[in-house]
Amino acid sequence: MNILVTGAGGQLGSELRKIGFSPLDEVFFTDVAELDITDRKAVENYVSRNEIDTIVNCAAYTAVDKAEEEPEKAELVNVKAVENLAEVAEKEGCLLVHVSTDYVFDGTASEPYTEKSPVNPQTVYGRTKLAGERAIRKSGCLAIIVRTAWLYSEFGGNFMKTMLRLAGEKGELHVVCDQVGTPTYAADLAAAIVHMLADESVADKTGIYHFSNEGICSWCDFAREIMRLSGNKCTVNGITTAEYPAKAHRPAYSVLDKTKIKQTFGVAVPEWREALERMMRTRDEV
Ligand SMILES: NC(=O)c1ccc[n+]([C@@H]2O[C@H](COP(=O)([O-])OP(=O)(O)OC[C@H]3O[C@@H](n4cnc5c(N)ncnc54)[C@H](OP(=O)(O)O)[C@@H]3O)[C@@H](O)[C@H]2O)c1
Repeated sequence: MNILVTGAGGQLGSELRKIGFSPLDEVFFTDVAELDITDRKAVENYVSRNEIDTIVNCAAYTAVDKAEEEPEKAELVNVKAVENLAEVAEKEGCLLVHVSTDYVFDGTASEPYTEKSPVNPQTVYGRTKLAGERAIRKSGCLAIIVRTAWLYSEFGGNFMKTMLRLAGEKGELHVVCDQVGTPTYAADLAAAIVHMLADESVADKTGIYHFSNEGICSWCDFAREIMRLSGNKCTVNGITTAEYPAKAHRPAYSVLDKTKIKQTFGVAVPEWREALERMMRTRDEV
């Protein structure tokens, strides 16, 4: 198989590069410098020239607060560029694996969101990601959309790294304790994508899937576990969402139900604390 990974310089793309695909596959890792997915002609040429069978789209506009100020930029990458990939995938007969977000939901639920739960995005980021999903459906291409949440990795910027940096600067942190969800180690999401693509009947299993790590915690619980595992003595105090205003609305409840991906593909879903510990060990080894 010839696989194109777009946005490969980000958290998920870097983890995919690290774990790799099957040795039988030829994989083309690209980021915006090699392939700007907002450029329709460039996408068409790249896909046909390299006889791509599968596109894994890790590219996105992910700055949730900034998106409120520059919606047109978020729209360009999260909608228009996704439409480019989907239409080219449809024309060339490729499978498109695309990554979406828990922000398509409004966060008012009290039990895990399934793939059938009603969507109701509350932010520019969430609305553009949902519009990206809809552009894929409209194109009619073969597609797997994986919604995930609270992504962190040794690569790129993320909550875990911010907490470790702040803990190095301050003796005490204040972290929101009334928003709950599940952290997702990007390496586990990357492994899930590789696992799905290795399934011989993947083309018959298209649709939306949810993937995060297993379990539930607040951002404050997550921060405390980061401190514990890194041996940091910094105190983490819980605060409310109202005490930490942000430009974009944050969902109070973001837990994703992983039953479908487990049953359809037999994907393993590690528990979030175990995943975080694994990630910390990886950092120590570097
Ligand atoms: N991060 C989270 O907490 C989270 C939560 C739920 C879902 N997700 C979804 O998970 C996926 C992966 O997220 P991530 O955290 O790995 O994202 P990321 O670290 O922000 O990486 C995205 C990559 O896409 C690149 N990119 C931006 N515009 C592009 C373009 N026009 N053409 C090609 N590449 C472009 C970015 O380059 P620049 O850095 O130069 O812009 C960056 O390297 C995304 O679909 C995201 O929406 C993320």
